[in-house]
Amino acid sequence: MNLLQRIENKAKEKEMSVLNSGTKPQDNNIVSEPLANQAKKTKLLDTQSELYTIKYSEFKDRIYKRILVELRSKPVEEVIPLVDEVALEILSNNEEYKEVERDKLVNEIINDLEGFGPINPLLLDHDINEIMVNGPYQVYVERKGKIEMTDVKFRNDEHVLNVIDKIVAPIGRRIDESSPMVDARLPDGSRVNAIISPLALDGPTITIRKFSKIPFEIDDLIRFGTLNGNVARFLEACVKARLNVFVSGGTGSGKTTTLNVLSSFIPSEERIVTIEDSAELQLSQEHVIRLESRPANIEGRGEITIRDLVKNSLRMRPERIIVGEVRGAEALDMLQAMNTGHDGSLATGHSNSPRDMIARLETMVLMAGYDLPIRAIREQIAGALDLIIQQTRCKDGVRRITNVTEVQGMEGDVIVLQDIFTFDHESIDSSGKVAGKLLPNGIVPGFYPLFERSGIDLPTGIFDYLCIS
Ligand SMILES: Nc1ncnc2c1ncn2[C@@H]1O[C@H](COP(=O)(O)OP(=O)(O)O)[C@@H](O)[C@H]1O
Ligand SMILES: [Mg+2]
Repeated sequence: MNLLQRIENKAKEKEMSVLNSGTKPQDNNIVSEPLANQAKKTKLLDTQSELYTIKYSEFKDRIYKRILVELRSKPVEEVIPLVDEVALEILSNNEEYKEVERDKLVNEIINDLEGFGPINPLLLDHDINEIMVNGPYQVYVERKGKIEMTDVKFRNDEHVLNVIDKIVAPIGRRIDESSPMVDARLPDGSRVNAIISPLALDGPTITIRKFSKIPFEIDDLIRFGTLNGNVARFLEACVKARLNVFVSGGTGSGKTTTLNVLSSFIPSEERIVTIEDSAELQLSQEHVIRLESRPANIEGRGEITIRDLVKNSLRMRPERIIVGEVRGAEALDMLQAMNTGHDGSLATGHSNSPRDMIARLETMVLMAGYDLPIRAIREQIAGALDLIIQQTRCKDGVRRITNVTEVQGMEGDVIVLQDIFTFDHESIDSSGKVAGKLLPNGIVPGFYPLFERSGIDLPTGIFDYLCIS
């Protein structure tokens, strides 16, 4: 007995049991038709739609089996036009599928086969970590830190729009003239931004930041030249000693990646709450609660901001709060939390230098809408932050930590910053290769005693001006 027959028998059994069971009318139920009849009808409808679903998926399976055979010898583009033919052929030998909506089914299969269209191979290429579609005829990728043009092309604007739709529709977002920008995520976690006309002037534009399945670890960053072994040990000590650390840098400079690596130093018994706009962090610890903000819906309602989540997280008994990127009013709540016992927090922010990060934080705190005097804001910042790590994507494509800076405190109205390690730019050759080293400045940070108190063994020698690792 095949699956279809089994379902048909089951449906008949169900029908009989409904007819035999008899039904008691319920109180206050004003109906003109006897309930038994209604039940019978709905059950029948139920079983009919169940039957339809089964036939639909059986038909689909059969087509797929045939298509898979074709795919072994032909590229996808040549197989796509065959889908309808195959469907018709199966139909001619299997009468029972004639009620199935063939067009819908065939479209679904073609859609599956097309995947994300011309950018599919780029998505599968592990050497590529960013894909940039600038209208239909210009597709760039970032491969091993370098941006390069590809020969991938879409047919036209419409084709790019279809791919965008395909990316955003499953997660309940949409893109059209009235909402021409959208953020989304691919099923594998890659981040997508799409922007179309009338905002994008040269055609629909897609930017995909691919999700690296195996997150980078500290040794990877050392290998890439982002930092050296001594600075790595120092940062590990800072996280373990529960300092509040901010990673600062431009877009794509590797802030989130560094944040993820820093998070890996958090002892596994601590309760960690992460807060992000789109969940990118991949923590290895088990006790992690991941929160993600939510944009407003089409009617402009239901927005949950990073700030809402930071406030909420304080009621979740966190031992560490990690904020993916601080951009606005949440800065105030974050600083307050850091100043009131939630030390050991980590965050990133967009800026060009540690000093610039401080200035931006001041502005962000003002965005919270309280009329705080600037001195009070600076005191909050100076009291909360212990360390700023500045990161840059250099001309040669290498992401480097350029400053590791201690926030020492206030002197008069000014926040005092002190570089502990600085990247010493030696030269840049004709191919753009940068030579230089991340060197100590000969200063032992003011929080050094904390390491000893936390039982962390870090020789002061690594701060020695002559220490090169
Ligand atoms: N230290 C690094 N060395 C090499 N590539 C990196 C490094 N950090 C990040 N990347 C890659 O750079 C891209 C951007 O990294 P991300 O951490 O998301 O940057 P940001 O948060 O600053 O925008 C990602 O594709 C990531 O894999
Ligand atoms: Mg980031």
